[in-house]
Amino acid sequence: MNYLLGIDIGTSGTKTVLFDEAGHGVASYTGEYPMAQPKNGWAEQDPADWWKAVVDGIRAVLAKSGIDAGEIRGIGLSGQMHSLVLLDEKGEVLRPSILWCDQRTAVECEEIHALMGGKERYIEITANPALTGFTAGKILWVRKHEPEIYAKARHILLAKDYIRYKLCNVFATEVSDASGMGLLDVPNRCWSQEVLEKLDIDPAMLAKVYESPEVTGTITAEAAALTGLKEGTIVVGGAGDNAAAAVGTGVVEDGRAFATIGTSGVVFAHTDKLSIDPKGRVHTFCCAVPGAWHVMGVTLAAGQSLKWYRDNFCDADKVEAEKQGVDPYDLMTAEAAKTPIGSNRLIYLPYLMGERTPHLDPDCRGAFVGLSGMHTRYDLVRAVMEGVTFSLRDCAEILRGMGVQSDVILACGGGGSSAFWRQMMADILGCPVATTISKEGPALGVAILAGVGAGLYPSVPEACRQIVGVNASQDPVAEHVAEYDKFYEIYRGLYPALKDSWKALAEL
Ligand code: XUL
Repeated sequence: MNYLLGIDIGTSGTKTVLFDEAGHGVASYTGEYPMAQPKNGWAEQDPADWWKAVVDGIRAVLAKSGIDAGEIRGIGLSGQMHSLVLLDEKGEVLRPSILWCDQRTAVECEEIHALMGGKERYIEITANPALTGFTAGKILWVRKHEPEIYAKARHILLAKDYIRYKLCNVFATEVSDASGMGLLDVPNRCWSQEVLEKLDIDPAMLAKVYESPEVTGTITAEAAALTGLKEGTIVVGGAGDNAAAAVGTGVVEDGRAFATIGTSGVVFAHTDKLSIDPKGRVHTFCCAVPGAWHVMGVTLAAGQSLKWYRDNFCDADKVEAEKQGVDPYDLMTAEAAKTPIGSNRLIYLPYLMGERTPHLDPDCRGAFVGLSGMHTRYDLVRAVMEGVTFSLRDCAEILRGMGVQSDVILACGGGGSSAFWRQMMADILGCPVATTISKEGPALGVAILAGVGAGLYPSVPEACRQIVGVNASQDPVAEHVAEYDKFYEIYRGLYPALKDSWKALAEL
């Protein structure tokens, strides 16, 4: 029997899933870890935590499934994008990874545009402006603020590519994740000599760039001994978590799109021809299908908003959920569903970590607007879910404006697994929302890429045709759409109204 392994190094945890070659999940394991926020707007993780979760995950799925590791034909890696890992000449991690949602690099982003002779030239090459979440600004930040660390740095990697290094002892990346570093020539799918020269980054520090289904290395004897994998098993390029989710949901052809509510929220559309938002509000990256791209809008605190709310204000629900043997989120959303659309006139702005699409603003922060003495914590839960979904609509509106759209949106991520949240998405986005039969999104996506790399499938779209099945969609309800539209209009006015106050707060 042939098996494929998909590993997704996420922000809240790493999910390792063993699939058979038809894409059925055989065994899965999630290892969780914390995210440190040492200052307001900063976000870091220890790469050692990722590696431990990966080793635990591989051992667990091998033990649970009882398969012979020699039957695994290939491994795919997916992970949080943009997160900077710096290694010294011995391959040791030099400092905690600065994550995709970290906002410390606003000054460095301006510097990048200036060094490039203007934002326009930088966008022409990398397809995106310099953004605080992207890796390039973080490199410049470490070089400026921690010169003694930068002096020792020999390798610059992304989260999943660090895991690849630990598994295969190679320095390799692939086009989808590399697109989010702000150093890749996205139209031509290679490092940009011009950007590297102007930012004074030594190309030797960067990993070799592959297409996502290509073989990048094989499991070393040392990694085999640690994990139980077979030495020599191939590891393909894989993809950043969003490009991986696209493969796992079959969004690999024009006219297909998905929306994720994970820690971040994303609206993602495939495009066979390069399409760039000149204002840089949505990202254009290479996708995991060789020769194609995707356009996506990103809201930074989607599932993270609800998690933050649960962790700080819903202890009673946690206790009750434990009593009933259910997930606290299920309990919270069942109660929130009893509140009317608009959460009894309460609007939440999901800017806990600043915001990318559409505002590109590291200084804005979250808000509840319209709080009244009559509101219950379930009104607030509903407001959080609505605010996150309004933010997804901001993303979808820009994609529509660029002519990149689809008739159905596939929902994924933790939020996408809630029927209530999916109906809210259908009503707020004004578009049918469906789910795929497999819920594994990114892990399945990179397992599919591994299947292509191992020669089990001829191409990524063909593998998706054979593997990815879609369930019936939930359609928008006309009265709900009309009702949500009224609140969305007010939501859209709140960012401009509060922008200056957030800036002033950030400057205090
Ligand atoms: C995408 C982004 C996030 C992370 C989350 O640009 O920053 O979606 O990839 O893992």
